[in-house]
Amino acid sequence: MPGRDIHSFAEPHRVRVTHCSLVLEAFFEKRSLSGSAELRLQRLDPDAPLVLDTRDLQIHRVESQGREAPYRLGERDAILGSPLEIDAPPAADSVVIHYSASEHASGLQWLAPEQTSGKTHPFLFSQNQSIHARSWIPIQDSPGVRISYDARIKNDLGLRVVMSAESNGIENLFQRFRMDLPIPAYLIALAIGEIGFRALGPRTGIYAEPALLDAAATEFADLERLIATVESLYGPYRWNRYDVLVLPPSFPFGGMENPVITFATPTILAGDKSLISLISHELAHSWSGNLVTNATWSDFWLNEGFTTYIENRIQEEVYGREQAVMEQVLDRRELDKELAEFEPRDQILNIDLSGRDPDDGTTRVPYVKGALFLRQLEEVFGRAAFDQFLKSYFEHFAFQSITTEEALDFIRRALFDRYSNQGKSISVDEWVFAPGLPASAPKAFSARLQHVSEAAGAWIAGDLAASALPARCWNTQEWLEFLQVLPRPLPDEKVSELDAAWHVTATGNYEILDDWLQIAIESEYKPAGPRLESFLISVGRMKYLKPLYKELTKTPEGRLRARELYAKARPGYHPIAQAAIAKIVGSV
Ligand code: BES
Ligand code: ZN
Repeated sequence: MPGRDIHSFAEPHRVRVTHCSLVLEAFFEKRSLSGSAELRLQRLDPDAPLVLDTRDLQIHRVESQGREAPYRLGERDAILGSPLEIDAPPAADSVVIHYSASEHASGLQWLAPEQTSGKTHPFLFSQNQSIHARSWIPIQDSPGVRISYDARIKNDLGLRVVMSAESNGIENLFQRFRMDLPIPAYLIALAIGEIGFRALGPRTGIYAEPALLDAAATEFADLERLIATVESLYGPYRWNRYDVLVLPPSFPFGGMENPVITFATPTILAGDKSLISLISHELAHSWSGNLVTNATWSDFWLNEGFTTYIENRIQEEVYGREQAVMEQVLDRRELDKELAEFEPRDQILNIDLSGRDPDDGTTRVPYVKGALFLRQLEEVFGRAAFDQFLKSYFEHFAFQSITTEEALDFIRRALFDRYSNQGKSISVDEWVFAPGLPASAPKAFSARLQHVSEAAGAWIAGDLAASALPARCWNTQEWLEFLQVLPRPLPDEKVSELDAAWHVTATGNYEILDDWLQIAIESEYKPAGPRLESFLISVGRMKYLKPLYKELTKTPEGRLRARELYAKARPGYHPIAQAAIAKIVGSV
């Protein structure tokens, strides 16, 4: 079946869930989340059972039409979890499942008070993408199935609850929410903790632990402008509010585009807006991803490639072309590094994920190669035509989940057929179905980064002292360029000289620190050791953790160190980060 989702047991062509009503109670002491999910059904085949996705859920009881409904919980698949098959009476249009999530649910992280900045209250957050919704909600956990939802959530500590939905008051200690627009299950989101709120504009604001609100307000001051920019390019923002929730540092990703409320790592609070592209990215998903969604995880590039392209257009509009181009150059370097290492099958946009966890597909390929494809379309058809095309794409597919084939079909009709003498230099098939990059792929050039890279060369050659580098006026991207072009390992005296001149080990900018610690490990620069340790223990963002642990394990002593560090840090990591790092250091 074309567009069939191999990562879900659900059979939405027979019975389709259209709405989910959650009633859940969180007990922080026991780390338990339990209650019920009422699912509204569309019975396309009245005799077919309802098949749901679950992972490590305890099912207590299933009801339909006021009676117990028979159900079977299937065998647990290591990647997919267990199918839950429910026999609903033929005329029934809903079922209620009473259940509890496991303390170790892959989609939840329970934080101890010490892991928060306030240190007094625990914290809970969800991260459903790609297939973790099923670890706390019995649901058709496929991006091709869109549902509306409402929720009533209570917690034993009376802490604030936020969800990817409109807040709808409090009733009997239950905080209420509703999302009336149809979204896939991976966009349902929940967080509970000591969370404060600060308005930024009429439809924007920040949720964060109280101590972080000021920093976040400064960092995200441009939020309304970012939204206005995307709207002027691609049509109205359809989700009413746009808030950002700044999570504690163990959040395993940079950002997650939960509708109405982007979840973000505190590591982007650099103090100078230099890492704001992450917010531009998550905001862009309000069009590419949340409005028009990949039908399966093989179509993930439709979410991330389109979003990475739009992210950069926002950056260009709001922060200027030079800034946008610098970000492109850095992205391209990461992509090239991966393309040099990956097997061909992992270099393909429309990736085959048979037998694999969809989280394995979250490389730079769908992001940066996907964006380069769109950038080439923009260059060949012209910016005006391409902008108009994108706007019509969002209008045409609004609130639908689409496959690569459906998107390509639209691209062919709206661009290649319409402007038939312009597209000849582009091979769509090569971009989407072949490994590597087409030779004609656009290549960004930044004069500012070029200067930085020349300065790095001069310093390495000994023609320039570290203290004489023009680094006082470098922004984050220039620093990253500098660190990334340095030879590895760096001689002892060079690492020390650079650190003495610019105090890199003490930087508060996590992107710069990440690259620096990478150099420090490769160059066996001992003075950075304590910072490395505190970084690995306090920050759970996998983009930083994975390469650092990987680098450590390259020497026998390093591997021991990695295991020691991981043993200390593990309790603070998210379940999926734990799994990823355990694999790297080779211990449990
Ligand atoms: N949707 C992704 C995060 C994601 C993807 C989580 C796949 C789980 C599975 C989000 O939009 C994203 O791409 N975040 C990036 C930041 C972005 C600026 C590249 C991240 O977290 O690093
Ligand atoms: Zn994204």
